[in-house]
Amino acid sequence: MPKIITLPGDGIGPEVTAAAVQVLREVAPDVTTEEHLIGGIAYDREGQPFPDSTRAALKDADAVLLGTVGGAQDSDWNKLERKLRPESGLLALRQALGCYANLRPVRVQPGLEHLSPLKAELARGVDILIVRELLGGVYFDQDRKIEGSSAYNTMRYTTPEVERVARVAFESAQQRGGRLTSVDKANVLEVSELWRRDVQALHDRQYPGVQLNHEYVDSVAMLIVSNPSRYDVIVTENLFGDILSDLAAVIPGSLGLMPSASLGDGPGLYEPIHGSAPDIAGKAIANPAAAIMSVGMLLRHSLHRNDAADRVDHAVSLALRSHPTRDLGGQADTATFTRAVMDALSVPAT
Ligand code: NAD
Ligand code: IPM
Ligand code: MN
Repeated sequence: MPKIITLPGDGIGPEVTAAAVQVLREVAPDVTTEEHLIGGIAYDREGQPFPDSTRAALKDADAVLLGTVGGAQDSDWNKLERKLRPESGLLALRQALGCYANLRPVRVQPGLEHLSPLKAELARGVDILIVRELLGGVYFDQDRKIEGSSAYNTMRYTTPEVERVARVAFESAQQRGGRLTSVDKANVLEVSELWRRDVQALHDRQYPGVQLNHEYVDSVAMLIVSNPSRYDVIVTENLFGDILSDLAAVIPGSLGLMPSASLGDGPGLYEPIHGSAPDIAGKAIANPAAAIMSVGMLLRHSLHRNDAADRVDHAVSLALRSHPTRDLGGQADTATFTRAVMDALSVPAT
């Protein structure tokens, strides 16, 4: 009986996670779920954003389903020392799970082009997989400081760190359209020079069949929204991937349509890419689609239940057609959308 740890977190996290768990129970009734604390709420209750009780619960988990963490810009949590802030809890969780490859799919389902602010002919058929390195770069390097009127962070990568995430990207490309774009800033940064050299060398040694090219991150920021169909799989370092994936959310139409899977040494971590949305938290209008699609990714990658995953994806696309949420220009609130997904689950996938 698979065991899933759920970590609803802060803001809209509990709202979208409740919807996702409802869907999970429907398509995988044998799964057990166990809820634990993460983020600001964990700090408030236990004095730590990633408490020992949560860390201990991961030991026998098959997968982790996370909501969101963090507060508004003026939240008291942002005044805490950095290691006690909600976001540090999430980073510590990712590190504890060893999940170095963060898959962020960007897909425009047939018939849902109208949800995109892009012209329908640009949005149609877009199917990109962003593979974001998740445990390195400026996020984790300990060579960092703020002191007086000066501060710095360090973007450092080693060859093994580059190769392990690049391998995931090459293998994803082999199973999809066979094309990989590695994104860096090698015209300026030494760390990108290493990144580019190592990705190219791995390609030449082990994945010559994948069509690999290298592009600069500033240019990709423009091209991903003006000509998204040129991309199949993208691989990039942690910070670039964070920024490019929020930008890419414009293509399907909302951050609320961007799920993710983080894979590596231990159980997989599944989370929407959006944040805790303090501006709409507590209003029961958050779009739970990204959280529900993250359940789809969990079923596929951790439980190897592709049929159940297909059912979830299909039900979400039907619900988006019939009951779009407000972030997509529709009227449905969280409960209405979730009910539409649950109803659609009884419609066989085509
Ligand atoms: P955000 O992603 O929370 O919100 C950006 C905008 O998108 C807001 O207008 C919000 O209302 C909207 N939005 C996001 N998700 C939505 C959804 N499911 N349905 C409808 N609208 C949605 O980004 P932010 O405001 O910059 O960050 C808020 C907090 O979240 C910060 O504390 C930040 O650190 C944290 N954060 C957490 C995660 C995470 O837990 N993985 C990710 C990003 C940001
Ligand atoms: C994300 C978020 C996180 C990140 C923050 C909250 C630590 O923005 O998952 O995209 O930067 O990785
Ligand atoms: Mn982000």
